[in-house]
Amino acid sequence: MSVVGEPRERVDARDKVSGRARYAAEQRLGAPGERLHGWIVQSTVARGRVRAVDAAAARAVDGVVAVLTHEDAPRLAQQPADGELAVLQSPEVAYRGQVVGLVVAVTLEAAREGARALRIAYEEAGHDVRLRGDHPGLYAPEQVNPAFPTDTAQGDLDGALAAAAHVVDATYSTPALFNNPLEPHASTAAWEGDALTVHDSTQGTSGVAASLAEAFGVAPEHVRVLAAHVGGGFGSKGSARPNVVLAAMAARVTGRPVTVTTTREMQFALVGYRTPTLQRVRLGADGEGRLQAVGHDVVEQTSTVFEFAEQTAEPTRHQYAGPHRRTSHRLSALDVPTPRWMRAPGECPGMYALEAAMDELAGATGLDPVELRLRNDTPVDPESGRPFSSRHLRECLLVGAQRFGWWGRDPRPGARREGRWLVGTGVAASTYPAMAQKCRAVARARPDGTYEVGVNATDIGTGARTVLGQIAADALRTVPERVVLRIADSDLPPAPVAGGSAGTASWGWAVVRACEQLLREVADGVPAGGAEARSDTQDEIEAQLGFVRQGFGAVFAEARVDLDSGEVRVPRLHGTYALGRVMNARTAHSQLVGGMTMGLSMALHEGGHLDEAFGDWANHDLAEYHVASHADVLDVDAVWLEEVDEHLNPLGGKGIGEIGIVGTAAAVANAVHHATGVRVRDLPITPDTLL
Ligand code: MOS
Repeated sequence: MSVVGEPRERVDARDKVSGRARYAAEQRLGAPGERLHGWIVQSTVARGRVRAVDAAAARAVDGVVAVLTHEDAPRLAQQPADGELAVLQSPEVAYRGQVVGLVVAVTLEAAREGARALRIAYEEAGHDVRLRGDHPGLYAPEQVNPAFPTDTAQGDLDGALAAAAHVVDATYSTPALFNNPLEPHASTAAWEGDALTVHDSTQGTSGVAASLAEAFGVAPEHVRVLAAHVGGGFGSKGSARPNVVLAAMAARVTGRPVTVTTTREMQFALVGYRTPTLQRVRLGADGEGRLQAVGHDVVEQTSTVFEFAEQTAEPTRHQYAGPHRRTSHRLSALDVPTPRWMRAPGECPGMYALEAAMDELAGATGLDPVELRLRNDTPVDPESGRPFSSRHLRECLLVGAQRFGWWGRDPRPGARREGRWLVGTGVAASTYPAMAQKCRAVARARPDGTYEVGVNATDIGTGARTVLGQIAADALRTVPERVVLRIADSDLPPAPVAGGSAGTASWGWAVVRACEQLLREVADGVPAGGAEARSDTQDEIEAQLGFVRQGFGAVFAEARVDLDSGEVRVPRLHGTYALGRVMNARTAHSQLVGGMTMGLSMALHEGGHLDEAFGDWANHDLAEYHVASHADVLDVDAVWLEEVDEHLNPLGGKGIGEIGIVGTAAAVANAVHHATGVRVRDLPITPDTLL
């Protein structure tokens, strides 16, 4: 009997809804009343340097214990590789919202009052914050996230475009998008001598522990990072953020445990966001709609503090056949916070542009948009020639079209009207790489017939804790109730982050191997003192054969557009996916629907509005940065095919965290075009863009 695949409820569901689950800011370290709170002070200029600090009034606030600025903050042992972590190390200001101080007090309220009283004078320098395609500082980064080539080229793109029967040459843009996890970033830190303990809201404790050990110059084994419960991250908690360095710094200075919490507003500057993109897509097809030319050129931004280059055009390298190809990425380093990972970095904005361009090509060729994609499906990766471990994009398109009720649609844009609503449907393909990273795990058998399994996974709200319990139970041929699972503690063997949709594959692989080894060791019975087995998947992962591993999907949307106001409603969103084996039908469905909802939000609502004079986004809270709310989200559903892929990992799953957002914005945009005849290429599609 297998429990993997069962739609199990989250094992921590009751703890979460009842408030028993403790998050990083709620963790108690030290004696009652000992803990202090830090409030971050942010730069009010976009570039320049701190000229003078007057902390007298801040220190005079009742309850304030310490004020840290670049003048007196302890020097870090090493300049962190991530420049965003070099907090309070110099008077230089590289962007508006950068950390310039921390006020530490006995209560959060006193810390906030102290922060308001802190006087900081700046020497302002000019700033440059707007991304543009003709920016003089554009350059080609050495590689794009995490290690893909910046540019690729095959054949003769320009020649093939000149000779093509049908050409689309269009520029699309996506705005800065902001990770808004339900739980803002927070850290609680305490020192005992040279040993540091931290509760951090992070997607991976191993990486945070390593960053802290390096920054504070202590032995890695003296740093322990825990993350029992994490309220989302979407990539923004993928590495140590300034809040955890500040908490550790303040705890060292005061000799007391310190919690540093970020507000929603602070998040917009301090934890990363999705870069805005400018994307030129050129497609050339022959008379039958077969792609001959595929070009995708991207311009995006980074900061002056740290280079992050999103792999926006990467999915275009794998998606459709065609002999003449080119992709490129250009970057400009602006006076802005550093963009980072946000759910499906690269695939999400890149597939928006490619799949919107495919819709334009369907219009140009007169082919149905599903048919056009079927014609350009490919059994091998078009750039490397390597086979896919499995693909099934064709099946996703056909099954999805059937379930959605796609066929029989009048292809003419703006042709269907119901009362004051224009109605249309759209489709887009989706893809996301199926990755696994090296990981270690430990499994123990106890004489009473129960087991303990340890793997340094983090459950950021996805259900990882539940799913790993199912995986361990199957591997141990027992039931989840007999397995005690330990996760989210850097004292466990090192493990990768909850990111890249690779958590379950990476951690689950190590868990399976440790459990198998344990069962071999206790085949003749569990010794009185118990038994233990450890695994390390590095060699096995390196020995994997050279398949291209990707999940695929097809997203279908119906859009209704109010003729008078331009308001867009999306009554139906449907996704059919090929994801290998699904570990828990309930949490998987929830991940896919969540991703699709975020894609809907990207299509219609989300985007930072830049105020060039201030050098900052004008909307940096949830009142003015609109995330889709319940009223915006109607019928969203996701299903998956029964797909067996034996070239992935022992579990056979492809990862589900990110693919739901990919392609969804294009499906919605394509449906809006079909409804209205208006092609909005610059997201989001707000009412004013349609009138
Ligand atoms: Mo995800 S953006 O890989 O955490």
